[in-house]
Amino acid sequence: MRNKVPIGILGATGMVGQRYIQLLENHPWFEVTWLAASDRSSGRPYGEAAKWRLDTPLPERIAKTMVSPAEPASASNAAPKIIFASVDAAIAREMEPKFAATGCAVISNSSAFRMAPNVPLVLPEVNADHLHLIEEQPWRKESGGYIVTNSNCSAMGLVLALKPIEERFGIEQIFVTTMQAVSGAGYPGVASMDILDNVVPFIASEEEKMETETLKLLGKLEGHAVTPLNAKMTAHCNRVPVVDGHTECVSIKLGKKLGRPAKREEILAAWAEFKPLAGLGLPSAPEQPIEWAEQNDRPQPRLDRNRGKGMTVTVGRLRPCNVLDWKFVLLSHNTVRGAAGATILNAEMLASLGKLEPTAVAAAARG
Ligand SMILES: NC(=O)c1ccc[n+]([C@@H]2O[C@H](COP(=O)([O-])OP(=O)(O)OC[C@H]3O[C@@H](n4cnc5c(N)ncnc54)[C@H](OP(=O)(O)O)[C@@H]3O)[C@@H](O)[C@H]2O)c1
Repeated sequence: MRNKVPIGILGATGMVGQRYIQLLENHPWFEVTWLAASDRSSGRPYGEAAKWRLDTPLPERIAKTMVSPAEPASASNAAPKIIFASVDAAIAREMEPKFAATGCAVISNSSAFRMAPNVPLVLPEVNADHLHLIEEQPWRKESGGYIVTNSNCSAMGLVLALKPIEERFGIEQIFVTTMQAVSGAGYPGVASMDILDNVVPFIASEEEKMETETLKLLGKLEGHAVTPLNAKMTAHCNRVPVVDGHTECVSIKLGKKLGRPAKREEILAAWAEFKPLAGLGLPSAPEQPIEWAEQNDRPQPRLDRNRGKGMTVTVGRLRPCNVLDWKFVLLSHNTVRGAAGATILNAEMLASLGKLEPTAVAAAARG
């Protein structure tokens, strides 16, 4: 424990905050030492303040930890220098810069700064080079602090599945329809009377986020900003009565990188061979980021969401599309790969680049 990097969680009582706690229990590099949430929760032991919703027991040490006020320098318990943040965008917009200004690395789940030109929106397998943008942030120069973000939970799975295809063949058009789990709306989320026996064909701002974030993630870092991928994209986002796991039906028109139409086995090979983090030793990186499901009725949320401890995206049903070129189905765990696991992987990537707490992490990794 002595050598682990202390981590603070902002929004610790929420759906994503709980996942951080679950995923960081026994993490080899990081240790949760500070928990913060709203005024409703601060000053209370976590076990009382949070309604624990996960299927593993709440760690005893965490249950006893007092929830701190969501301020970088509270009189009773100052925040550590690494903050995993999962609060609503409106709150994040005010709060995250305050933490960055006092020298904190804020690794965020919120949409507040994802599209800011000097804020990296990162999925380590896809665009770790975009992390260089933290050097463009004013806080970095003044206090060492910075903000790094991960994407919207439905963009995350899509981008992971598209990246190897984009690299080998190019992508010109993307058409996606999502079936998104209720945990994506936080707790208590969508009222049971609205979602049971039902599908809700609207999730506020979700389609816009998917369309912009996907293209930024697949874009190129050029000079001081990212040029988004030059592709046309449209998204239909739906809420469905599934607890965890977003399913997405995707059609794509490929680019001309190959100079001829791609074959089905070439797309399958692109997915199977996609292992950009192999050998880096990042504890949360799955061995196989994209897994192919052979059966024609897969992937399914209940059966496939926990592949790679929730960090693997499952793809299936690859077949020709009569409108674009190819269509397939993907599934990813929205609160693991799509949220908390993504933040943790971003922090691990930053650590491996020496940008998180280089000395402490290097010592933990050695020890
Ligand atoms: N759920 C997902 O699958 C998912 C995926 C990707 C991104 N995200 C993003 O992650 C963020 C959190 O999502 P969630 O699903 O975890 O939401 P949630 O379950 O509603 O949790 C919200 C958290 O924010 C805290 N909070 C509320 N007001 C606050 C304030 N004024 N100051 C400090 N903390 C405050 C809450 O504390 P109290 O308990 O004290 O109210 C709670 O800990 C959102 O920006 C969301 O868009 C979520």
